[in-house]
Amino acid sequence: MTTLLQKPQATREFDVYRVRHDFPILSRPINGKKLVYLDNAATSQKPEAVIGAISRYYEQQNANIHRGVHYLSAQATDAHEAARQAVQRFLNAADVREIIFVRGATEAINLVAHTYGRTHVGEGDEVLITAMEHHSNIVPWQILCEEKRAHLKVTPINDRGEVRLDAFAKLLGPRTKIVAVTHVSNALGTVNPIRRMIELAHAVNVPVLVDGAQAVPHLSVDVRALDCDFYAFSGHKVYGPTGIGVLYGKAALLESMPPYQTGGEMISSVTFEKTMYNKLPFKFEAGTPDIAGAIGLHAALEYLNGLGMNNVTAHEHDLLDYATEAVAAIRGVRLIGTANQRAGVLSFVLEGVHPHDIGTILDQEGIAVRTGHHCAQPVMDRFGIPATARASFALYNTKDEVDTLARGIRKVKEVFA
Ligand SMILES: Cc1ncc(COP(=O)(O)O)c(C=O)c1O
Repeated sequence: MTTLLQKPQATREFDVYRVRHDFPILSRPINGKKLVYLDNAATSQKPEAVIGAISRYYEQQNANIHRGVHYLSAQATDAHEAARQAVQRFLNAADVREIIFVRGATEAINLVAHTYGRTHVGEGDEVLITAMEHHSNIVPWQILCEEKRAHLKVTPINDRGEVRLDAFAKLLGPRTKIVAVTHVSNALGTVNPIRRMIELAHAVNVPVLVDGAQAVPHLSVDVRALDCDFYAFSGHKVYGPTGIGVLYGKAALLESMPPYQTGGEMISSVTFEKTMYNKLPFKFEAGTPDIAGAIGLHAALEYLNGLGMNNVTAHEHDLLDYATEAVAAIRGVRLIGTANQRAGVLSFVLEGVHPHDIGTILDQEGIAVRTGHHCAQPVMDRFGIPATARASFALYNTKDEVDTLARGIRKVKEVFA
């Protein structure tokens, strides 16, 4: 089957069995079986490099940042800001001031909806999303639209789970104030043609927020090449810790936006009469940030750089290709999401078996998959199903594990025969 993401040229041999040794949890037995962790779209496992960086920070450097003159505070500040520079390089952002640390993709999107959204969307205006968005990229816009008496417009998708570009172009109208679109769908695995979508939106002067939560772990992302206005992702899905994420925003837009949360750090001066805001990026980072999280994320991005993102993408490409063939070949399986361009995710239903039961039986075999609506209920509605079982892949997964998954699904069939 050649329905997957275009495979990049691997620059060197990718030894997945060697790489697996970097992830301590992968050698942990589950239910007496070898763990087969295929719930990476929910969160990825962490390499020793990340776990070690966080421990070293707390053991050697812990102090609050930006405000201290003492040694530890200066060291912690340097480490935190070095993490920001690492994110800038990773996304190829033009300026380090464009990297805002947040809790995750959810907070990044809420930040834009609350600030850019509140100041630019008014009565009768429109926010344009797609039918495959995660709830995190629906609800903030829906609430904004309710508050402002604006309209949430939804670009339809076809039966393969691809955005209908013709409809998207038509929906971009004079009242559209922002487009918010996922780069890769967490429920379907679809890789959206965001470069083209951004071009179309910019042609009518509409800025675009890209939800990159499921893209950053699998693809090289270059925000300047994409020319997106905002890009959001979560650290924990890209081998970093939970509690840290990133909002990239073009400096000119960020400068023009009011702050999100307020309090310490985001100010330059406060009197009872007036508060002056801090410069970028600190204007959007109220309170003590997740310092250890940023340091852990830095370690995760270095780890990925060490492997080479193209090598990761090429490995995962082959793996998803192999998994698609293996799972589709099982009688009674229906794949949900068969887009021409996919990454990381294989969603399916099995005739006569509720996805929850698939997940429970697979768990007995040590196989971790996710079942449910994957925080994308409108996608489930689009395909007329309540839920799917979703196997999602990471750089450490192997074809042997895919074989174990296929055997597990066959076992589910036997149990329900
Ligand atoms: C496409 C997509 N967007 C946003 C999110 C939200 O990420 P987080 O919960 O880390 O904020 C997820 C999480 O699954 C996702 O898959």
